[in-house]
Amino acid sequence: MIQVAYASKTGHVEKVVQTLGLTNALKIVDGTEQLDGDYVIFTYTTGNGKTPKQVETFLASHPGVKAVVGSGSRAKSHIETFNFAAENISKAYNVPVIARLDGTGTSEDMTNILNALEKM
Ligand SMILES: Cc1cc2nc3c(=O)[nH]c(=O)nc-3n(C[C@H](O)[C@H](O)[C@H](O)COP(=O)(O)O)c2cc1C
Repeated sequence: MIQVAYASKTGHVEKVVQTLGLTNALKIVDGTEQLDGDYVIFTYTTGNGKTPKQVETFLASHPGVKAVVGSGSRAKSHIETFNFAAENISKAYNVPVIARLDGTGTSEDMTNILNALEKM
């Protein structure tokens, strides 16, 4: 299965990674982490539809990104920029969005993500 790198601030993405059993996933803390080859990036969205800075740093120095999984919130304050980090990355790196999760997502989301990862 393809490698996974992820960023999580309040724990939702971390929980998703754990639920999926991705024990070798790399946690991005400041963006200077090292990883070789192809990978899928999992990220939350921060203030007004922004990609977390450490995720931008990591992407800029790791060209092997093949797809993105986003976690956002459908709360009123975020709905207009729902999962924009995943959308931003998809456009910038020309890669598909595997899932646009609301928080930790649903069990159906988990099945879909695992199926997608296994095919990569
Ligand atoms: C300051 C702040 C800004 C946020 N902005 C957005 C946003 O623009 N769009 C969105 O979909 N979610 C937004 N969210 C929601 C988070 O992306 C969402 O809760 C996500 O699941 C957090 O993942 P994490 O727990 O792994 O950090 C925001 C959350 C915070 C705290």
